[in-house]
Amino acid sequence: MSATINQQKLTELFTFTFDHVPALVVQAPGRVNLIGEHTDYNDGFVLPAAINYSTSIAVSARADRELHIVAQDFGSQKVVISLDETMQQDAEAPWSDYARGVVQELKKRNYRLAGGNFLISGNVPAGAGLSSSASLEVAFVRALTELSDERIDPTDAALVGQAAENNFVGCNCGIMDQLISARGQASSALLIDCQDLSTRTISIPTDWEILIVHSGVKRGLVESEYNTRRVQCETAAAFFGQKTLRGVSLEQLLSAEGELDELSFRRARHVLTENDRTLLAAEALSSGDMSTLARVMAESHVSMRDDFSITTPAIDSLVKILQDAGAGQAGARMTGGGFGGCVVAIAPATVIPQLMTAVEERYQVETGCVPRLIPAKASKGAFAT
Ligand code: GLA
Repeated sequence: MSATINQQKLTELFTFTFDHVPALVVQAPGRVNLIGEHTDYNDGFVLPAAINYSTSIAVSARADRELHIVAQDFGSQKVVISLDETMQQDAEAPWSDYARGVVQELKKRNYRLAGGNFLISGNVPAGAGLSSSASLEVAFVRALTELSDERIDPTDAALVGQAAENNFVGCNCGIMDQLISARGQASSALLIDCQDLSTRTISIPTDWEILIVHSGVKRGLVESEYNTRRVQCETAAAFFGQKTLRGVSLEQLLSAEGELDELSFRRARHVLTENDRTLLAAEALSSGDMSTLARVMAESHVSMRDDFSITTPAIDSLVKILQDAGAGQAGARMTGGGFGGCVVAIAPATVIPQLMTAVEERYQVETGCVPRLIPAKASKGAFAT
């Protein structure tokens, strides 16, 4: 796995596959969420950063109304889709469902689409909770609209990607992953208010770095558990006559303890306290206040573990190892939807080596799982060249 996609290699592969050079190359990044987990579909706050791992698509126009799409990372498997057919899931090439979903959603919104050749390749670790699917969706929206001479605003591109996932692929995800992939800023995180999709760029102090650690725990039951959490949050909101938990205050929730069933109460308590922590974290990040950031990230992890029940014992150990090694000078928590995947740490560059050493020395011994260190840089969102 390399940290940058070699554009020249992609262009060469495209030329070899389609017998002509591509007209353009589009790139859309994966993401790491610093804090604000399972808050997006509750109209709350999130603080993700786009990362230097992305999906790239080389593209050229066709004279007919077909899309010829080759996935380099799936044995160069090829699918052909007619723009005029009704989109159907493809069990033989499940990766292509993201493209099919995007076509369906762009057509629904009356974009005039043109045929094209596409070669897709990416280096976002799959199944790690780093949003490889959102990066594919956003890259494909950009590739297909650019090719068709249609302009699309980055937020609309994100909404199309999310709708493809919700309506076609079948995961009821929120907007965070697609929005940060479309709108990320170099060297920064984005504080996103998922109620109105407004964003505030929060620069990461120049001497701080992000370290992602894959726990080696394969993410399991993700979709069903994810959709269950979403329903539980909606149940809690409905108890207060609201559509989402954004309309409920923490005071209101706490005073209803005992009336609301215990599970819904705990799910809602995670979401509402996480919103507060995310706002605090954004302030702490922008002012370089590591002790506050480390504290709220630690509290976020405990809340995900005890109230939202989405961590695993190995991931809890990994977070503890990073926190111990950071000794107050590093924030660490599980990142993403949960049930496996990655942990994110952020710390001054001088502290990062001791975090890495601690993971290498302790994690496998304590859990039997093999960690993967993934140093990451906050990067810009989707772009075409
Ligand atoms: C997944 C979803 C996001 C978000 C996170 C949890 O990544 O795609 O919309 O809900 O989980 O914060």
